Amino acid sequence: MTLGMSLDVDLNDLHRMESRASSLSDDTVPPEGTAVLAVDRFGFSALNVGYADAGSSLGYWSMFPAPDGTGTIPVWGHATVLRSSHPDLAPGRTYYGLLPMATHLLVSPEAVGPRGFTDASPHRRRAAPVYNRYLDRSSDPLSTTSPSAASEVLLRPTFTTSFLLDADLAEQGWSGADALILTSASSRTAIGTAQVMRTRSQRPAIVGLTSARHMTDVRLLGCYDRVVDYDDIGSLPVGPTALVDLSGDPAVVAGIHHRLGEALVHSSAVGATHRLAPPLETSTLPGARRSLFLAPGVATRLRERLGVASVERTLAAAWRICAHEMQDWFEVREAQDATTVQQVYRQVLEGTVAPRHGWVLSLRPGTT
Ligand SMILES: NC(=O)c1ccc[n+]([C@@H]2O[C@H](COP(=O)([O-])OP(=O)(O)OC[C@H]3O[C@@H](n4cnc5c(N)ncnc54)[C@H](OP(=O)(O)O)[C@@H]3O)[C@@H](O)[C@H]2O)c1
Repeated sequence: MTLGMSLDVDLNDLHRMESRASSLSDDTVPPEGTAVLAVDRFGFSALNVGYADAGSSLGYWSMFPAPDGTGTIPVWGHATVLRSSHPDLAPGRTYYGLLPMATHLLVSPEAVGPRGFTDASPHRRRAAPVYNRYLDRSSDPLSTTSPSAASEVLLRPTFTTSFLLDADLAEQGWSGADALILTSASSRTAIGTAQVMRTRSQRPAIVGLTSARHMTDVRLLGCYDRVVDYDDIGSLPVGPTALVDLSGDPAVVAGIHHRLGEALVHSSAVGATHRLAPPLETSTLPGARRSLFLAPGVATRLRERLGVASVERTLAAAWRICAHEMQDWFEVREAQDATTVQQVYRQVLEGTVAPRHGWVLSLRPGTT
């Protein structure tokens, strides 16, 4: 039997992560209409650090409430129904969705059907629907075509964004760019975007920009037409170019805008992996005006234009190809104890984890 615990961070110092005993265990009898899930496995990347950085401003701390002054970081992964007091949710079923860094989750299932359910717990009502939906792994098309359970939790959380980035840029005719630069090229969001772009017959050249220490690994990936070190921005050819920035690093972004000037035809901000970099002043930069990429807006536009079923089919088809390509590059590493999970967390927070090390985490020993 697994006793309940969660890993919570100090909201004033994200480096401080501590374990907390929870009231849930494998033996908990859920109140009427609710169910207890076992959190089987989850991935952890800069995406989740972004949730912590924006925890107060964007409401991520309210998804899995923790004691005052602390927060439970949301992670994407797999969970199995352990005990259910809901008539339509059967024990033993496994789902993909947003989970706490914990051993258990109590949910109030709503809209239960063969494709999944929604957690209607009061504290989650303000979150976007995508965060509250749990997809049945036995029928979900991305789950059933994943190369493995591990690759699904590693690569799927950022893949929808990669897919939407590609779709949005293609819809705009790549803004007329001959080349597209992805910063933080060693991140899974950038790798996924490059992989989806490569499935197209007509696309700009894909340039991956990364740090010197990641050059060798990123070249080995083979998904970029060219890999450039942040220190070599001055070597970028000047021609119609689009920039998709995942680094949020003012030195990198300003360097690209100044190098390319009016030849920079598109510039969007998607992430901020270089999270300790100072704020970026963009109003005076030459070239395209920097825009903020908002995945929900792009998804809505795409669904309205192509229809929900068509978008889901295209996403599943892209995943089938790209997940297999990407998983070959990642070395899956597993940790199932709180101490190692905390170590991995600190490495991701500090940016010292090797990009190829795909950690699959769990706080339930014996779960793979
Ligand atoms: N807007 C959206 O909808 C959306 C969706 C998904 C992800 N994102 C954002 O995209 C970014 C990438 O997320 P991910 O999960 O794909 O990343 P990831 O796989 O964890 O990649 C991490 C990479 O980021 C860079 N990095 C991370 N921490 C760093 C640090 N402290 N100092 C310097 N470099 C650091 C390094 O790349 P380099 O050496 O190559 O720079 C590192 O290899 C995040 O900022 C995330 O929030 C946004």
